[in-house]
Amino acid sequence: MDRESARMEENMTNRELIIELEKERDLTDTGFHQLLHDLTQEDREFLFARARDIREREYGKAVFVRGLIEFTNICRNDCFYCGIRKSNTKVDRYRLSPEEILGCAREGYGLGFRTFVLQGGEDAWYTKDRLADVIRMIKKDFPDCAVTLSVGERTREEYMCWYEAGADRYLLRHETADESHYQLLHPAQMSLQSRKECLYILRDIGYQTGAGFMVGSPGQTVDNLISDLRFLQELRPHMIGIGPFLAHKDTPFAGETDGSYEQTLILLGILRLMFPGVLLPATTALGTIAPDGRERGLLAGANVLMPNLSPVGVRKKYELYDNKICTGEESAQCRDCLSRRVESVGYRIVTDRGDCRDYFSNPSQGRIPHKT
Ligand code: 5AD
Ligand code: FES
Repeated sequence: MDRESARMEENMTNRELIIELEKERDLTDTGFHQLLHDLTQEDREFLFARARDIREREYGKAVFVRGLIEFTNICRNDCFYCGIRKSNTKVDRYRLSPEEILGCAREGYGLGFRTFVLQGGEDAWYTKDRLADVIRMIKKDFPDCAVTLSVGERTREEYMCWYEAGADRYLLRHETADESHYQLLHPAQMSLQSRKECLYILRDIGYQTGAGFMVGSPGQTVDNLISDLRFLQELRPHMIGIGPFLAHKDTPFAGETDGSYEQTLILLGILRLMFPGVLLPATTALGTIAPDGRERGLLAGANVLMPNLSPVGVRKKYELYDNKICTGEESAQCRDCLSRRVESVGYRIVTDRGDCRDYFSNPSQGRIPHKT
């Protein structure tokens, strides 16, 4: 952004800034500061209405659903915010077998899911080859489905192997794009640089790639959030996962203040304006912080929901933060509940892989997806 527009932004009202953001898909840091600091209720409603307009132009009223299979809570990492961190000895650890994972996918298929997200801790039992076998099994039985992986930082060789086995997408939140803030949230062995490297490798291989961050994590400033937006502009991911930070009682961040619900909604709106075609989930954390959080997320520009397909017996054990919702419900109950929620705000869940639109219209955003 040039000096002239920067100077103009300094004198803009919030409403003018929102219009500018929609037009330019970008603002100066000063402009972002203003939006992240002092939006009135009216400004927010205006932002959300613009975001909905764009979302409906890109995706209509469709809401994509992803069946989340939390297949292992065993993790070698020790992120300070996370309930299943290695040092939390109170966690009852579990690992689903490949057959159990396939069973979840089968149930999900019957419920209309056409994307399965295999999410887990960084669990060494699930080696490159074992996970590749699971991916191949799912793709063989459900060739019309997308497989998304979310298993953390691994080597290029592993990422390549899983892509060749048929995985389509990969979620790896960067968590925060500020170096010193990253250090505050993670043990010394982890680095923002390796996380970013993984994201670039994933994109380069051809995965539809998802990054993202927590809103209101301990020590986070508005400048940190602007760094997150700048990093996303550089990476141009297909998916962006954000949700409020929520304290977990058995972590070093127990007793820290939860992230802000309103700030999360504002960021969803801003992200929709910046990245019109991006896949943007209204996350479980958002549904946990407020009973109608996911519906409000949809009304602020989100277009994806990721309900849980894990067996009910293990759900409580995958508690990244306190009071996580949907841990007692069967998959079919969640699916019905979600349909009602989505319809209550005028949208509808579709049975569709739900690929990123930009992905097809802008080849520089990645390679052609696997043939099914
Ligand atoms: N509060 C909110 N989100 C969390 N995550 C992990 N721990 C927490 C927490 N305490 C998020 C991280 C991770 C994703 C799977 O869940 O952003 O990438
Ligand atoms: Fe799980 Fe409502 S979405 S119970």
